[in-house]
Formats: sequence, C-alpha cells, structure tokens
Amino acid sequence: MAIKYSNKVIEHFMEPQNVGEVEGADVIATEGSPACGDMITFSLKINPETRVIEDVKFRSFGCASNIATASMTTLLAKGKTTEEIKRMRHRDITKSLDGLPAVKMHCSVLAVDALKSAVHKWEVNHGLAVEEKPELDRREVWKALTDVLNPRTGLSLVEAKVVNNIEIEQDEGRVFIEIMLCDLDEMFAEAMEEEISEHVQALPGVQKVLVQFKRCEHSSA
Ligand code: FES
Repeated sequence: MAIKYSNKVIEHFMEPQNVGEVEGADVIATEGSPACGDMITFSLKINPETRVIEDVKFRSFGCASNIATASMTTLLAKGKTTEEIKRMRHRDITKSLDGLPAVKMHCSVLAVDALKSAVHKWEVNHGLAVEEKPELDRREVWKALTDVLNPRTGLSLVEAKVVNNIEIEQDEGRVFIEIMLCDLDEMFAEAMEEEISEHVQALPGVQKVLVQFKRCEHSSA
C-alpha cells in the first residue's frame, strides 16, 4: 500500500529549505537512526549573548520524510533560543507539516533529536552544560520512551500505555524494560527494541538495556 503524505510534506521534500552547511558554523552534530540507518546533520550559528539560533542548515542522508521534517525543523528553529529548542517535540514538526504517516513518525523524532544534540554540544563547548552523569532515574527512562514510536500506529510507547515495567540496577547501570506487544505489532518488535535501546542507552549512567516483550492477551487493532 502506497504511503500517503500531506501536501506540505511533499512541498518540503521537493523544495527543502536551508539545505547545506552554515558557513563558519559554531557547532555541527549528526544523529542516526539504527532502526532505518538514516542520518541527519545540523550546523548552527548561535549568538553566545542571546543564545538565539541565528542560522541553521541541514544535510540529510535519509528518506523523503527525513528531508521534509529536517527542512521544517530548520524553519521552526531559526530565531528560537537554545532553551526553546530543548522544549521542542517531534509533534511540533509533524503538526507544522500537517501530519506524517504513522510509519514515518520516527523521522521527525530523528530530526528533533539531532537538533537538540547540536544545541547540547554547543552548550558543552561553551561550559553551559556539564557532561557529568546524573543518577539514573526511572522518570528519565520513562521520558526517553516517549520518543520511541510504534511504527504501525505512530504513537509513542508511553502514549500507547504499553510500558509494563521499568527496573533499574543503579550500580551496574542496567535498565530492564518490559513492553506489551500485540499480534499486529510483532513484525515491528525488532525495530522497536533497537529504538528503545538507542534512546535509553543515550541516558547518562546506562551501561546496558534489556528489553523484554510480553504478549498481549488480546490483539489490538
Ligand atoms: Fe528513517 Fe525516515 S528517517 S525512514
């Protein structure tokens, strides 16, 4: 079945905005999605006084949605402060694009993650953020799971209420996560496991992520 995109997605794919690299960029960061292998790079010019994003460009090594979401991300990011970027969610991008097919939602997560990681890198370089690892806590794991989407429904695992259990072994840096899995989602289990590991592994203090799927008693549509 063909994937149906909004006119805005097609527009931004056909004529992406702010493609390339900002000349004399203050920071450049690349993020990749192990789920699909796509990658995206953002380069930014940030005013050190006001912390406003004065210029931002991207290079995409991915799908049409990756290009369209990156293009929209640059438009939304320009003129925002680093604090505002940190509060950006992938839904802000998809809303501005009049939606994305569920199976492509993760492309918008990748774009926002890459932008945030560029801002974080800039803050670390300017002594505004510390690399110091805070204690690993359950809320952080929970928060990370809000960025992991079910490719079938486009809902995050938290929204879909399928996170059954989270356990943390602080000393070992081990995180155990149990997810409810329905029949229809079985084919996406591997991709979801990779996404979960990628997002949770990125949390400070995490050494190992163990994901277990528990079968739903009833299949959901
Ligand atoms: Fe992976 Fe679009 S970013 S399929």
